[in-house]
Amino acid sequence: MGLSNKNLSAKDRLVLALDVDSIDDVERLVTMLKDYVGFFKVGPQLFTSCAYDAIDTIKRLGGEVYFDGKFHDIPNTVAKASSNLVKRGVSFFNAHLAGGSKMLTSMVKVAKETAKKYQQPIPTILGVTLLSSFGQRTLTEELSVKMNIDEYVSHLTYLAKESKIDGVIASASEARRIRQEFDEEFIILCPAIRPTWSVVNDQIRVVTPADAIKAGVDFMVVGRPITSADDPVVAANMILDEIDEAMKSLVNI
Ligand code: C5P
Repeated sequence: MGLSNKNLSAKDRLVLALDVDSIDDVERLVTMLKDYVGFFKVGPQLFTSCAYDAIDTIKRLGGEVYFDGKFHDIPNTVAKASSNLVKRGVSFFNAHLAGGSKMLTSMVKVAKETAKKYQQPIPTILGVTLLSSFGQRTLTEELSVKMNIDEYVSHLTYLAKESKIDGVIASASEARRIRQEFDEEFIILCPAIRPTWSVVNDQIRVVTPADAIKAGVDFMVVGRPITSADDPVVAANMILDEIDEAMKSLVNI
């Protein structure tokens, strides 16, 4: 594992979703926010518009990259893709756990070997359990899965653990359960974060930064509440303060 989720600062915990289309926007946001954000998330939108330029620009400006590519393919293909990310200096990325243990274990092994060979940071790899766009009906009828959502997420989380994946992407309500079932070192990253002062946009089940921390979340993905704010630095600072306060309240319990 590259990252430890112990002793993380509020800044380390904040992942900014860079859902933009141009290098100019990447440069503007990374320059403005690199002192307030632990990782910049490069997802399909940015990667298909700017490809590796986006990753290289973030790194050049001193930011850390979380590549949200959600790999799901045969083991050899995913292992090679992961290796390419590691060579590029990406230290945090993810794959679908439904890709199975062979895909997951070979990805972890090859990513670590590549990091050693190219003297890059050991990557932190997260697993996608079930996309939040899935409901019980889709899981049962379209994927023919007989478990309920909670059981399925738990089942895949055990697969992640057995396959040496560092953690999972989960909602805050799932995080609470995962924290009870798995050790403290197992990483939980939560999207759909909305401070009380921001608009919800198209997210359906949202959670505040404070509630995410209290549920046991280690890292949180925030996009539009920061990138669309009148002053993104002020917005990021308000979120950092909220994370800090929540962490203090946990220590005092
Ligand atoms: O904060 P905002 O809604 O703008 O963040 C959206 C980002 O979080 C997108 O990059 C999206 O892919 C990611 N995400 C999400 N919901 C999930 C998983 C990821 O919004 N369940």
